Amino acid sequence: MKWKARLSELQFDEQELAGVLETIDSQWITAGPRTEAFETAFARLTGTAHAIAVSNGTAALFLALKALDIGPGDEVLVPSLTFVATAAAVIHCGATPVFVDICSLANPTMSADDAAAKITSQTRAILPVHYAGIPADMDRLSALAESNGLVVVEDAAHAPGARLAGRPCGSLGTAGCFSFFGNKNITTGEGGMITTNDVELARRLRLLRSHGMTVSSWDRDKGRPAQYDVLEFGFNFRFDDIRAALGLAQIEKLEQFNRRRAALVEAYNQSLSSTQLDLILPSAGTSEAKEPSHHIYPLVLPSTEERDNVAQWLQREGIQTSIHYPPIHCFSAFKRTGRRVYLPVTEAFADRELTLPLYPAMSVSQLSHIVETVEAALGQTRGRQF
Ligand SMILES: Cc1ncc(COP(=O)(O)O)c(C=O)c1O
Repeated sequence: MKWKARLSELQFDEQELAGVLETIDSQWITAGPRTEAFETAFARLTGTAHAIAVSNGTAALFLALKALDIGPGDEVLVPSLTFVATAAAVIHCGATPVFVDICSLANPTMSADDAAAKITSQTRAILPVHYAGIPADMDRLSALAESNGLVVVEDAAHAPGARLAGRPCGSLGTAGCFSFFGNKNITTGEGGMITTNDVELARRLRLLRSHGMTVSSWDRDKGRPAQYDVLEFGFNFRFDDIRAALGLAQIEKLEQFNRRRAALVEAYNQSLSSTQLDLILPSAGTSEAKEPSHHIYPLVLPSTEERDNVAQWLQREGIQTSIHYPPIHCFSAFKRTGRRVYLPVTEAFADRELTLPLYPAMSVSQLSHIVETVEAALGQTRGRQF
């Protein structure tokens, strides 16, 4: 499909290209000095003592839970309004995801009230998602975790550079998990990162990331003895230096990217907030303490029918849209478990949500064209002009 406006676009230039070429020329392409430098830069970004690069965001979530010893018999509170990986990571640890509703159609992050109602004697962790890069209500969720002896793992896949009361997402729980998939605010194609201030957790994450081995290939190249021990059976969730070169170039530009995203979101909000249009804009009116990273631009229409009509109209005009997200508890894979889950706000949101294109290189005239097309589509479905 030839799109006039894609949902997201890659922001690479000569800097990424040069980084990759230098890495290839260096003769060291697996995890090594560039991976370490990317980890250091990422730890600085999140203000955490440690950052551990892994193969993707799903591996980050799985490994964080695993290293926290979450397993069979344990329950983890997760939103259903998220990418399936958030719950799959819990399931693959042998634990049970317990789905929590969102706060409201205007604040589609985990509801602390519903989370509190779902805590049982088996609950071990809370795994909130900073949906669209909007920080979840971490003050209330962290207080809930503390009073019930739970750990907090942030799914910060959408949230590099986002802040809550000046504190970076990824530093608000015991561990933060990021994704560098191709559509994310910074990308390495595939890739992930775990951030933490817990030195023992960081040590275990590094071990488990690479088969529990005490010595890495890079250590040996630096002259460490070849003998190694295996302290526990782990995985191969390693990152590599080619992708780290991309990450190092991308992270330098993140602040500028996020500033541009914020300006575009402000322009979308200004144009689409007219009461006549009758839209809910989750990116508008977030509390002052929240500095979102604006990973995506979601809006909520009055009905599913209108949402679907607008999506079809935009598609005909070459404007790509998406739905974030079909709730996890509505997928066949979950329904087969026979567990019945009712999340009224999540379901209403998912039935009516539409995501519009957003990426730093989007021009103001492109954005205006998208807004005009949304208005035309709404006019057509409602039999009037906006
Ligand atoms: C909210 C959320 N969690 C987890 C993931 C998983 O990340 P990855 O695709 O890098 O495995 C994604 C990525 O798409 C995501 O959007």
